[in-house]
Amino acid sequence: MLDQIRDLYQEVVFDHNRNPRNFRVIDDATRKIDGFNPLCGDRITLYLKLRDGVIEDVSFQGQGCAISTASASIMTEVVRGLTEQQAHELFATFHRITTGQDDDVKLEDLGKLAVLAGVRAYPARVKCATLAWHSLEAALADEATTVSTE
Ligand code: FES
Repeated sequence: MLDQIRDLYQEVVFDHNRNPRNFRVIDDATRKIDGFNPLCGDRITLYLKLRDGVIEDVSFQGQGCAISTASASIMTEVVRGLTEQQAHELFATFHRITTGQDDDVKLEDLGKLAVLAGVRAYPARVKCATLAWHSLEAALADEATTVSTE
C-alpha cells in the first residue's frame, strides 16, 4: 500500500474518532439497530430516518474502538441523501475494498471511503471498519434489531 494512503488513513481515523460526526440520537428515527462485535464487545446503535426510500437522516451512538467510531462517522456522512439501493451498493463496494477482494475499484471514485481502504493493511481491524456498515445493511433490510460481525 502506498505510504500516502496509510498516512491519510491514520489522519482521517484520528480526526473522526476524536470528533465523530452525527454522534447523536434521532428521536423520530424510522429504524434503529444495535451492532455488536463479539470479539471485543464494542457496540454501536445506528439510527436511520427513511422517507420514500431515501436516507433523510442517519446517526449513531455507542462505544467502539477508534476505527469503528471513525468508520461509523464517515459512513453517516456519505450515506445521507442516498436511496436505499445506492446505500446497499456502496456497502457492497466498501466491503470488497476493505477485504481486498476488489483491486479494480477506482479509489478516486469512492471519495472519503477510499481512505478506509487503508484498513486492508490491518486485516484484524476489518471487522471494526465494517461494524457500522453491517448495521446499516441490517437496518435497511429491517429484519433484526441486533446485528453481529460474527
Ligand atoms: Fe472492537 Fe474495533 S476493537 S470494533
